[in-house]
Amino acid sequence: MPDMLVPLLKLPPLEPLLQELRVLDVVIRRAHPFEITPIREFILAEFGQGWADEIMPCYNHQPITLYIALKSRRLVGFGAYEATRRNFFGPTGVAKTERGQGIGKVLLIACLQGMVDMGYAYGVIGGAGPVVFYEKAVGATVIPDSVPGIYTDMIRRD
Ligand SMILES: CC(C)(COP(=O)(O)OP(=O)(O)OC[C@H]1O[C@@H](n2cnc3c(N)ncnc32)[C@H](O)[C@@H]1OP(=O)(O)O)[C@@H](O)C(=O)NCCC(=O)NCCS
Repeated sequence: MPDMLVPLLKLPPLEPLLQELRVLDVVIRRAHPFEITPIREFILAEFGQGWADEIMPCYNHQPITLYIALKSRRLVGFGAYEATRRNFFGPTGVAKTERGQGIGKVLLIACLQGMVDMGYAYGVIGGAGPVVFYEKAVGATVIPDSVPGIYTDMIRRD
């Protein structure tokens, strides 16, 4: 899976996107430190231990570099930045039953806006799975010769 580059200076405004989701009873906001356990449980159940661990550095930053999506106040998604590397977006995920409603895109843009606020002009999607999603949502482009990226020499547990 390649890394991708995102031009951060051309992001769409976040606030109207947040309001559109609010109409559907979906709230996207930063995670609070007192929510570590339910967020971890959600990610473990939906996406596994690797991502549940990978977001932990987000809580070391102030503001916390993790956004969550709530539908009717239940967790349905998350997006992280500044987790595994500086200037990297990811991991991110939306519960299977809630995909295709624009939640993943708004989580992504909220995180990327967080990176803009830190002073970055470009961002990196580390080991992008659904390349088309990132191309469509924020005009990201594949970084040539970016495989293998940072996810190499992984621990084998079988
Ligand atoms: C990728 C993911 C976060 C997208 O979340 P989502 O809420 O379903 O995405 P959205 O509804 O915001 O989709 C935005 C656009 O991207 C497209 N899109 C979404 N997922 C896509 C995918 N996997 N492949 C191609 N296009 C995709 C949508 O069709 C939509 O297009 P449109 O604007 O023309 O309607 C979600 O599919 C997911 O959790 N996948 C599993 C985990 C994963 O792969 N995470 C990324 C790791 S790098």
